[in-house]
Amino acid sequence: MQFSTRTTPPGRARADCALVPVLAGKELTAGGREIDAVHGGRLAKVIRSGDLPAKAGSTLLVQLDGHLPRALLVSMGEAREAAARAFTDAVRGALQAAGQLAADEALSLLHEAPVTGRDTEWKLRAQVLTGREIAYRFETLKTKRETRPVRPKRVVLPVSAGGAFRAAVAQATAIANGVDMARELGNLPANHCTPAYLADTARKMARELGLKAEVLDVRQMQALKMGALLSVARGSEQPPKLIVLRYQGAGAKQPPIALVGKGITFDTGGISLKPAAEMDEMKFDMCGAASVLGAMRAVAELKLKLNLVVVVPTTENMPGGRATKPGDIVASMSGQTVEILNTDAEGRLILCDALTYVQRFKPSTVIDVATLTGACVIALGHHRSGLFSPSDALATELLEAGNEIGDGCWRMPLDEEYQEQLKSPFADMANIGGRPAGSVTAACFLSRFAKGYDWAHLDIAGTAWKSGTNKGATGRPVPLLANFLLARARG
Ligand code: BES
Ligand code: MN
Ligand code: ZN
Repeated sequence: MQFSTRTTPPGRARADCALVPVLAGKELTAGGREIDAVHGGRLAKVIRSGDLPAKAGSTLLVQLDGHLPRALLVSMGEAREAAARAFTDAVRGALQAAGQLAADEALSLLHEAPVTGRDTEWKLRAQVLTGREIAYRFETLKTKRETRPVRPKRVVLPVSAGGAFRAAVAQATAIANGVDMARELGNLPANHCTPAYLADTARKMARELGLKAEVLDVRQMQALKMGALLSVARGSEQPPKLIVLRYQGAGAKQPPIALVGKGITFDTGGISLKPAAEMDEMKFDMCGAASVLGAMRAVAELKLKLNLVVVVPTTENMPGGRATKPGDIVASMSGQTVEILNTDAEGRLILCDALTYVQRFKPSTVIDVATLTGACVIALGHHRSGLFSPSDALATELLEAGNEIGDGCWRMPLDEEYQEQLKSPFADMANIGGRPAGSVTAACFLSRFAKGYDWAHLDIAGTAWKSGTNKGATGRPVPLLANFLLARARG
């Protein structure tokens, strides 16, 4: 689904179908009135019939003629001014209904509808992101197409002028490209998406977008004394990788922002083996990695004026004859020792060495993204990601970036008191803190390595993928990260 802006007035536009917002069950917007006038008041007449349900996203098809053979009336809800959520519901309903028609090109006037606290640019971005979300298919591993081709193929957004509006559509398109990439990598099963595959994907993206790519192998990790990361990889036949991508969009002196993503391409739990039920979903345990690669894609496509480093520690977590055993003690790159009481708490082990490794780039800010704990799913469910940061300012930036783009997070505590749960009689710390506040103690563990920069941690265990009939990667939190970086680039 391709989105573009056009400055032709709606009354004169040609399209297979127009998406016309209806406010409070009765009112048309300026563009809607133009179309209505050209077609002899047909829209107003159908609205008066009362057949359009009030719920945001309900639609009613009206046959027209000439350059515009049909219009879909789209309810924006009962209020004259829609809430942000109702607007996205309306966009989804409208594009899905349009997808049922034999319409290749749609003309959407939905951004003419007022939305509380949101400007036109936001409404344009929301249409692009929602449309691309609906249009996404994972069909790379099917030999026969099962779903109908994406419709509408093109969506034209009439605007009064190019400039900022065209830029908003370009921004959202780049973010959607990053989301698609993250979804694709997340959905690929672990026999396809190995650490080597992730490394190749990163290298390919680097070539395409002019980034610097470096992939460290086991020997280089050994030389760096990444004992925690290597302890997770021991049980696997797949060699681990540490992927580093660098984007320079600002002066070389400007300290970079770093994104670190958990890249466990399959998490069996290791010797602390997981139960069989739903274990297939542990192919999604690299969604943190996928999201930071997706955010890098968006930033590079938009040529943002900032410097960005993406670091992905990636390995499988498997049981095996050489695998780490509960009770084993390893030395991390930072020098701190860790008693591994549960080999299923592996995400923090690969991340801690990556958090030490990023120090060499002297980043101002580091954000790690990880499907880290089942406890975070219990705490926050599937709507908001867990946000942990000792910095109020950084936490606020991330909360706002997420809320604005509909990819929310929620701040969780990091108080010193929780650190005590990580005490070990044999090493500097244990890798688990017991059942209470499991997502907090995981973040506390990471905090011991996140030194020398502003740091935040996003636990995306509940938001990175959906289970059940709609099983699949969501691409979150690419929109949150990209929106945060857009704001940083603006200064
Ligand atoms: N990848 C899992 C976290 C996870 C579990 C995400 C379920 C989404 C759904 C992580 O590596 C893990 O296994 N964490 C353990 C930690 C525990 C052993 C302290 C968990 O959450 O059970
Ligand atoms: Mn695990
Ligand atoms: Zn895991």
